[in-house]
Amino acid sequence: MEKFHGFKASSSNWKPNLGGRLPRQIQRALPIYAGVILFILFLSYGNSFTPKFEVAHVKKRSVNGQKVLGADSLAQKSPTRFPKKIWQTWKIDPLGFEDRDLTCARTWTQKNPGHRYEVLTDNNDLYYVETHFGPEGINRSDIVEVYKALTAKIIKADLLRYLVMYIEGGIYADIDVEALKPIDRFIPERYNEGDIDMVIGVEIDQPDFIAHPILGPKSMSFCQWTFMCKPGLPVMMRLVENIMIWLNELSKKQGVPISDLKLDFDEVISGTGPSAFTAAVLAEMSIKNGYEVKWDTFHNIPESKVVGGVLVLTVEAFAAGQGHSDSGNHNARTALVKHRYHASKWPTAHPRYKHPVYGEVEKCNWEVECVKMWDYNTALFDGLTEEEKQKLIIEKNQADMQKQAEDEAFARKLEAYEAARAAQEAGRTLAGQETGVASMSRPASQFLGLAAATDSFSKRLE
Ligand SMILES: *[C@@H]1O[C@H](CO)[C@@H](O)[C@H](O)[C@H]1NC(C)=O
Repeated sequence: MEKFHGFKASSSNWKPNLGGRLPRQIQRALPIYAGVILFILFLSYGNSFTPKFEVAHVKKRSVNGQKVLGADSLAQKSPTRFPKKIWQTWKIDPLGFEDRDLTCARTWTQKNPGHRYEVLTDNNDLYYVETHFGPEGINRSDIVEVYKALTAKIIKADLLRYLVMYIEGGIYADIDVEALKPIDRFIPERYNEGDIDMVIGVEIDQPDFIAHPILGPKSMSFCQWTFMCKPGLPVMMRLVENIMIWLNELSKKQGVPISDLKLDFDEVISGTGPSAFTAAVLAEMSIKNGYEVKWDTFHNIPESKVVGGVLVLTVEAFAAGQGHSDSGNHNARTALVKHRYHASKWPTAHPRYKHPVYGEVEKCNWEVECVKMWDYNTALFDGLTEEEKQKLIIEKNQADMQKQAEDEAFARKLEAYEAARAAQEAGRTLAGQETGVASMSRPASQFLGLAAATDSFSKRLE
């Protein structure tokens, strides 16, 4: 009690300064409060560097955001990293994919768990284009109108990938492209991601054919069915603008609106496809470097190189196993994707030049002797009389019909074989429920036999 009174007496000396209204318990705790306040001050001082960095980061991001939105501020610096996003476009969304497409698409998601994955479909593509290119986006209604008017699916698909890459960037891959390696491996370690705006691969490198009337324009190209971009690249917008000009000119030439354009194979390739893409990329590299960048920069390159901010990978990276252009094979370490080509049914919708007797020169697959023979034969054909020409065409058609009949007979045989095998399999499954593993070895060898038969069948169809 003495002590307590003593404390009270001494505290009463400064009590008037606090107005005398503080309850005694708070008065006793004051030193603790002061300590806590000092401690909080210390903490916030110690942490003050982090919030400063965060503010800077947010500011930087919004600058980048504006860069994408403002069509005229394209010259700004790209973000240091490629967006971790995989894009595909297809008729339907991935939950409805058939097995073949699902298997292929999963190679991307499974190898790249850190990436987001999105498929634009025939039902939501226009919404995407309107959102990002309409008045609420970068306000390029001309682009929206052309996209809306287009009916040629392949042109739309080409255009859409460029639009998406311009707005958001990331990696685009056709639906029939399989990932062989994680995307992190697409940029070799010797490069700094901050120095690269775009990653592309050589697909066709056959400059010797440059003078050929049919093969020439397609003899040197980068592929545009798999490529990677940072958002807002001027090359993507220029490509889109070139396509708009091309479509409008074609519309004038054919005297029909864009929605009614008829396009052949070569027009698609040169207008929106690989040739258009290649020309736009080379033009952009030339602008960046201040001199004309030509194809020879990428002819026979032993390894990847960066030109004007574009990382160009060797043929093997995206287009292995073509049997031309020194494309190597899919088992190589540097083979990054595998194009299965099952989605490219569009050549039938957009016919390419097919000689009535000697067929398509593309079937030569860039074999020099084969192309020479085709050129020689077709030139010879041109020198024939109408009568001789007709005779050759009739002979050719007869040979084709005979081959078709053979193929059909073979297909029926194969069908019967498959039915028999399925029946046998069903019988074995019933019996096998008892015996289990023991019955596994025979179907495996039978399956191999069937695979070989299917293989030779498809070869015959070619
Ligand atoms: C969009 O562009 C058009 C001209 O093409 C202009 O008239 C309109 O005001 C613009 N709208 C916005 C929201 O910027």
